[in-house]
Amino acid sequence: MIAISDPPSILTEHDAGDVADLYARCTDYFMLQDGEPATLADAIDMFRDVPDEKSSADQTIMGWRGENGLIAVGVILRDYPSDRVWYLGFMIVDSAARGQGIGRTIYDMIEQWAAAHGAQEIRLAVLEANEAAERFWRSLGYRELRRVGPDTFKSRSHHRVELYRLLGSNLTVPPAQ
Ligand SMILES: CC(C)(COP(=O)(O)OP(=O)(O)OC[C@H]1O[C@@H](n2cnc3c(N)ncnc32)[C@H](O)[C@@H]1OP(=O)(O)O)[C@@H](O)C(=O)NCCC(=O)NCCS
Repeated sequence: MIAISDPPSILTEHDAGDVADLYARCTDYFMLQDGEPATLADAIDMFRDVPDEKSSADQTIMGWRGENGLIAVGVILRDYPSDRVWYLGFMIVDSAARGQGIGRTIYDMIEQWAAAHGAQEIRLAVLEANEAAERFWRSLGYRELRRVGPDTFKSRSHHRVELYRLLGSNLTVPPAQ
């Protein structure tokens, strides 16, 4: 079992090659999302792709490394779509390392870090077709906010389920949108 105990590194665009290598070990996910494997350009996009009203400086990309490179990555955007709501844009674990608790461990680190920096709620969107990930998020206390889409992802089209979790509370009442 791979131990994820150290704090993450903060990744920058200089790490895009390592992200592309991780993506290449996660072809299952990109086939589901895009219908094709990810490219280096997709890895670079992860660092640049933020909503129009935000900048890359509003986004933090955390990476966890093992002997063979990156094991996992998490991307979080501050104060989007509103103040104190943070958006977990993406999280991925090397497909060979899944089902060992790494996803939960790194999510906990991201959530604690976000809460310590002022987040009161985290939102994310999961592809409707990604049932395993939706189960994962719901097992962590995420609840449905709304369904969005369809949106185009390369050669695929997806509806997504937007999920939210209020931090420091067991409330499950959806916040005002
Ligand atoms: C979703 C994802 C991040 C979860 O990461 P993970 O490391 O597999 O997650 P965990 O191991 O913490 O938990 C997954 C499952 O393994 C189980 N598990 C936890 N610890 C375990 C252990 N020590 N041994 C075996 N199984 C374990 C969990 O109970 C969980 O089961 P569930 O399916 O009933 O929820 C990962 O599957 C992934 O990268 N998927 C592809 C990308 C993706 O879908 N990202 C999310 C986009 S919204």
